[in-house]
Amino acid sequence: MTSTTSHSLGIAAKGLRKAYGDKTVLDGIDLAVPAGTVFALLGPNGAGKTTAVKILSTLIAADAGELRVGGHDLAVEPQAVRAAIGVTGQFSAVDGLITGEENMLLMADLHHLPRKEGRRVAAELLARFDLTEAAKKPASTYSGGMKRRLDIAMTLVGSPRIIFLDEPTTGLDPRSRHTMWGIIRELVSDGVTVFLTTQYLDEADELADRIAVLNDGRIAAEGSAEELKRLVPGGHVRLRFTDPAAYQSAATALREVTRDDEALSLQIPSDGSQRELRAVLDWLDAAGIEADELTVHTPDLDDVFFALTGDSKVPHQAKENAR
Ligand SMILES: Nc1ncnc2c1ncn2[C@@H]1O[C@H](COP(=O)(O)OP(=O)(O)OP(=O)(O)O)[C@@H](O)[C@H]1O
Ligand SMILES: [Mg+2]
Repeated sequence: MTSTTSHSLGIAAKGLRKAYGDKTVLDGIDLAVPAGTVFALLGPNGAGKTTAVKILSTLIAADAGELRVGGHDLAVEPQAVRAAIGVTGQFSAVDGLITGEENMLLMADLHHLPRKEGRRVAAELLARFDLTEAAKKPASTYSGGMKRRLDIAMTLVGSPRIIFLDEPTTGLDPRSRHTMWGIIRELVSDGVTVFLTTQYLDEADELADRIAVLNDGRIAAEGSAEELKRLVPGGHVRLRFTDPAAYQSAATALREVTRDDEALSLQIPSDGSQRELRAVLDWLDAAGIEADELTVHTPDLDDVFFALTGDSKVPHQAKENAR
């Protein structure tokens, strides 16, 4: 890697390792996040996402690895890294005993902003996060979504160029999640680099330029959402029947399909394109088959996630039933 490339990277890790006792959490992972982009780290519970965030934001030390954030070597200039970043942890940093405004002013103090400037920045961010009305109330009276917004507003007080968001939208209702996505997009359009972890695959799909899936201490796959989706087969048309006899005759007529005798459903591989869909419909018509329900399933990040993190059967089934 030339020095020019490493400078245009907001975050770079090479051979990042971390163990707790004899349990290896991060087993030599490489990450490269270009400045001004969104990077999403996915992985099941306990995969090491928070550990990675804590290491890259200088909160805990790695056992090994070449780590650079904002162009600074973490081992050599941790202070310079701290000055460049903002971190919103998985668990709230909000102090419930004081008001939202006081939480903000505390952050302004931590960033050594002059009093007047601190008040201005606090008021501006509270307004941007729709918290002006609640600003004078104790944060303990806020809803989960309000606390989360305050949390992120606090992270932005020092105008960081690189932001770590550990599960920023967990527990938020759909409207608040979309608000949060809008805020993240705005940050990125201002040139901020965002490193986020999430349990929501649609969130990574919506926001991230690049996605990495962490499993068993390693990066199981990395790429854009489209690239990751191409890794898994899974596109199919699903036919469901209510009448067992109709199901049986369809299953016999269409031999090249995957059967699910319990659900009375058949799966025909398909890329979901209009052309293939028409071919499937023509084929069903020709065979005289009429299903009670026809659904098109294109592979999504859920498929990638379940395929890469091992547990492919149960969640896949549960997800389809939930649709
Ligand atoms: N301070 C610690 N001491 C010992 N083990 C720890 C410590 N912190 C984390 N671990 C372990 O490291 C592993 C990774 O934890 P981590 O919190 O990074 O996972 P995560 O991917 O953020 O999970 P989640 O999705 O639940 O937030 C887990 O097995 C956890 O039990
Ligand atoms: Mg975590």
